[in-house]
Amino acid sequence: MENILFANRKACQDLKNLSKTFKDKKFHLKNLIADTNRLEKFSLKSKGFFYDFSKQRLNDLLLKKLYELARETCAKESFSQMVKGRMVNKTENRAALHTAARDFTRDHIILNDVDVVSEICRVNKQIKNFSQNVRHKKICGTTEKPFTDAVVIGIGGSYLGGEFIYTALKYFIEPVIDLHFLPNVDIDNFGQVIKSIDPETCLWIVISKSFTTTETMANLNQALLFLKNRDLDPSKHLVTVTAKGSPGDSPSDSRLDSFHMFDFIGGRYSVTSAVGGLPLSLAFGFDIFERFLKGCHKMDLHANNAPAEKNIPLTAALIGIWNSNFLHYPAQAIIPYCSALSGLAPHIQQLYMESLGKSASFDGQILDNQTGVIIFGEPGTNAQHSFFQLAHQGSPFPIEFIGVINPVYNKIQAKSKGVYNHQELWANMIAQAKALAMGKDDDDKAKYFTGNRPSSTILINDLTPESIGMLLAFYEARTVYEGFMLGINPFDQFGVELGKILASNLREHIREKNKDAKYDFNSLDSTSKFYFEILFKGSL
Ligand code: F6P
Repeated sequence: MENILFANRKACQDLKNLSKTFKDKKFHLKNLIADTNRLEKFSLKSKGFFYDFSKQRLNDLLLKKLYELARETCAKESFSQMVKGRMVNKTENRAALHTAARDFTRDHIILNDVDVVSEICRVNKQIKNFSQNVRHKKICGTTEKPFTDAVVIGIGGSYLGGEFIYTALKYFIEPVIDLHFLPNVDIDNFGQVIKSIDPETCLWIVISKSFTTTETMANLNQALLFLKNRDLDPSKHLVTVTAKGSPGDSPSDSRLDSFHMFDFIGGRYSVTSAVGGLPLSLAFGFDIFERFLKGCHKMDLHANNAPAEKNIPLTAALIGIWNSNFLHYPAQAIIPYCSALSGLAPHIQQLYMESLGKSASFDGQILDNQTGVIIFGEPGTNAQHSFFQLAHQGSPFPIEFIGVINPVYNKIQAKSKGVYNHQELWANMIAQAKALAMGKDDDDKAKYFTGNRPSSTILINDLTPESIGMLLAFYEARTVYEGFMLGINPFDQFGVELGKILASNLREHIREKNKDAKYDFNSLDSTSKFYFEILFKGSL
């Protein structure tokens, strides 16, 4: 891609000019949505996935300009380069091949003399065998009791996607092995997790690509001590998911097995690799994991092959850029009207903000435009009773509503006010989008709603692994597209490093104090000294 800065692109100049006209009253959403053809014009469908952007602040001309931006930035070409295994992660000189983790149609993808496809198949076969043996009670713990639970130790990309998918699929199918997640170095996270397991029937899955992440290593140490104190052998209770050759892959360590993750799949894009594959296959069976992969692949094919004007993740990415860079919204909420999707927003927070929260272009130039915005969310209708006051009358931000057409629960149920719960849920979802767009006049200013607040609505059929896979892959593709069009690298995350270095410097002082009670914190800055003294004193 040519190294023209985003703000200097021709399409950006045009969009900037157009954005001024959108201040006109005739472009208020209440006027735009009065057009009865609008939904048909501004929505896209791919089998099993519907995207309605008719309540976004745009019109035909604007949309045309947005697609020009996609063409000018060669977004589709970059996406296809990514799928082919080219070095799209330029700052780290790596490919970004998460799509290969669910593409079983290709025989080979050769990367640095390694066949990516056969490596992925090898690990998947290993996951299938291992999970079957555990689920069929052929692999048991120290006391020969079958496993009933697994604690997943890992943080960030080695945690959030797995928890999101586990929580969602648990509504669809009962797990054989219950998963518990231990991401935080907070000892109370550990304390809570061990309350809900029987040590003899618990497997510990340590997931870390680097196997150096402080939080994960600290929790691994807790797990090892926990096992030792109960005379349980780690080689019968512990498995690792890690990069080949990492400290967690050492053959001398005692563990049941080790599953590889790869350099060419970034942490936050890794839920379709062994990171999600192992825990999800233990919980639900490898066949369910495979169905989830098939859903992802279906969306990947659409994202790669559909022309720009029919491409759902590409269109959503363009709308994201329009909202952030031209209408200047600083945030975006993700509101699934579905409790099973409660882990979606936390996962997309990392996926999107770690990918797009950047201040430099992919070729190292400082940017003066907006990159990623703040993502947050909560299932509806809960969100309505939480922060929607601000959404309607406070600082505006775009919202993405997600509706699931068929709930899992199909037993006899009551009607309230003449409708079933699921129908009530949908009535609310539709009403919110409408209220945000329309607003309401009122002489009483406390009851006045400005309206003109944009939203999109996504629909999926159900909570099957295929539908959840499509939803996940939609967000991945959309994030990548947005990164490519903004001219940033959506695969690196240097912004997380500075805090880690400072924490490691401070840790040295705590270590000294642990060794020698007389050690003082005088060499530290006054604020750090203040906090450490309180920590050691144990009260204010
Ligand atoms: O701190 C951020 C991060 O590097 C993420 O990008 C990554 O997913 C997470 O930490 C965990 O890293 P690892 O899998 O190496 O433990």
